[in-house]
Amino acid sequence: NQIKRFYDQKVVDHFENPRNVGALDKKKQSVGSGIVGALACGDVMRLDVDIDDEGVIKQAVFKTFGCGSAIASSSLATELIKGKSVDEAMGVTNTEIANELSLPPVKLHCSMLAQDAIRAAICNWKEKNPNHVCVCGPEI
Ligand code: FES
Ligand code: FES
Repeated sequence: NQIKRFYDQKVVDHFENPRNVGALDKKKQSVGSGIVGALACGDVMRLDVDIDDEGVIKQAVFKTFGCGSAIASSSLATELIKGKSVDEAMGVTNTEIANELSLPPVKLHCSMLAQDAIRAAICNWKEKNPNHVCVCGPEI
């Protein structure tokens, strides 16, 4: 159909079968939560991570109120960061997400939203766990 001709199969797959949809208990100290929005379109993305004592992301879940590309981007983002260290996850870029999903140029800001959400969630966790030594450089 039309959609499948315009969008890469991977976007359609993540949109139709989003991975890791949900929210975590923000009261837990090991949980970091980030909510970000795109001014251009009004879409909003929430991404939560649960991080262990070693600084490894054990769980990553999301809820996105937005377009299909934003849903696919956040779904892929949770898959990409699960099992990664905080610092590795901080390095995941929107370019990586956009390339993996072959997003068209008008949809690049959707992957930017996912990058922002990852960083917002991790930095929220950092605020709650100031004893963690961050080696990923200055606060982004
Ligand atoms: Fe704005 Fe996709 S159109 S996040
Ligand atoms: Fe936020 Fe390193 S974890 S800057």
